[in-house]
Amino acid sequence: MNVLSHRIEEHIAQLSKFTSTPENGVTRVVYSEEDKKAKNYLKKEMKKLSLEVREDELGNIFGTWRGKNSELSQVWTGSHVDAPINGGKYDGVVGVISAIEAIRLLQANNYKPERDIVIVVFVAEEPTKFGVGCLGSRALTGMVTEEEANDWQDENGQTLSDVLQSLGKDFKKIINEQLNPKKVKTFIELHIEQGPVLEEVEKPIGIVNIISAPTEISLTITGEQRHAGSTPMEIRKDPVPAAAEIVLIVEKLTKRMSETSVGTVGHLKLTPSTSNVIAHQVELSIDIRDIKVEKKERIVNQLKVEVEKLIKKRGLTYKWEIKANDIPEKMNNANIELIKHCSESLGLTYHIMHSGAYHDALIMSSKVNTNLIFIPSTKGISHAPEEFTSTYYIAKGIELLGEYFKKITIK
Ligand code: GLV
Ligand code: MN
Ligand code: MN
Repeated sequence: MNVLSHRIEEHIAQLSKFTSTPENGVTRVVYSEEDKKAKNYLKKEMKKLSLEVREDELGNIFGTWRGKNSELSQVWTGSHVDAPINGGKYDGVVGVISAIEAIRLLQANNYKPERDIVIVVFVAEEPTKFGVGCLGSRALTGMVTEEEANDWQDENGQTLSDVLQSLGKDFKKIINEQLNPKKVKTFIELHIEQGPVLEEVEKPIGIVNIISAPTEISLTITGEQRHAGSTPMEIRKDPVPAAAEIVLIVEKLTKRMSETSVGTVGHLKLTPSTSNVIAHQVELSIDIRDIKVEKKERIVNQLKVEVEKLIKKRGLTYKWEIKANDIPEKMNNANIELIKHCSESLGLTYHIMHSGAYHDALIMSSKVNTNLIFIPSTKGISHAPEEFTSTYYIAKGIELLGEYFKKITIK
């Protein structure tokens, strides 16, 4: 095994140890001990390359490799290191360790870039804690208000502001740390594909042209908590059958809207949740996505109408909260051409494709020229313990990133 392959495997193995579910995949929720340990590991790795490392008020990490002229706008790259519940070892991690290794390769060749290259490790790309994905990039680009920080709660009822305060941080300071788009020439994220396309087309590189965007809805249905044995069916106000109907409506609406529409109820919580009690309340997370914003809006609007009708018919009440409503973003065209050129010069074939998953690149592209590159996921599996991407493909991604850094920093 060559040195690069060895390093890749070592990073993956080390980072995968920071999990709260060692028997069942990687679970690394933002602001947990595991998340902190993974971030410390990455900070140490960045310092070994003499990068200037700092962390902002939210916990995003920045590792800057100074170029010849730090007055020039910088090239940013990176991804995230948090992982969903029982996820895999590669999601997010690959983008961060590849950026580190691409810089190491350039340094080993005594290459010095014209511009600074900055590795960013965004916090909470996964929505696990507060129900909103891409928290780090959202806050950095000014898309999180103080009101939202005081409103978004974790499962213990602690708001984002509370959690930050308990860590000695202050949400208000984030406002002063926001990204200045003039100082960033471009952002590029390398990520595992998380789907089956690259394996199907037998290409090592995916160059993304558009990222599908989610609408994240939190729906709470409230009924009447009663005895499961003695309450006749006719007089029940049970929120659970209503939730079941809504799950099916989400599936029906997304299936018939377009080929790129997807809809998921990933979180269902009954309160109380026990076999002989009719629950008082059900909470559902509803995640609707498409690369066409009109289609996504149609699904969301139709869903809202159907939910209203159904809740009324069943004599229940509900709260509908839109936690995020993002717009699909096109990736930077000129840089797509540059990535194609870099791939060709390395003998790597590529496939132009959309991303069904969202990434920090989606949020960053609202402010700066952004690009996203994929490498294959075995059997297309992701957000599951079986998630796998071979060291070979990660090494190819690293080579491509290194080549791209050389070209983009002189442009
Ligand atoms: C990101 O993890 C997503 O859910 O697309
Ligand atoms: Mn993910
Ligand atoms: Mn990811």
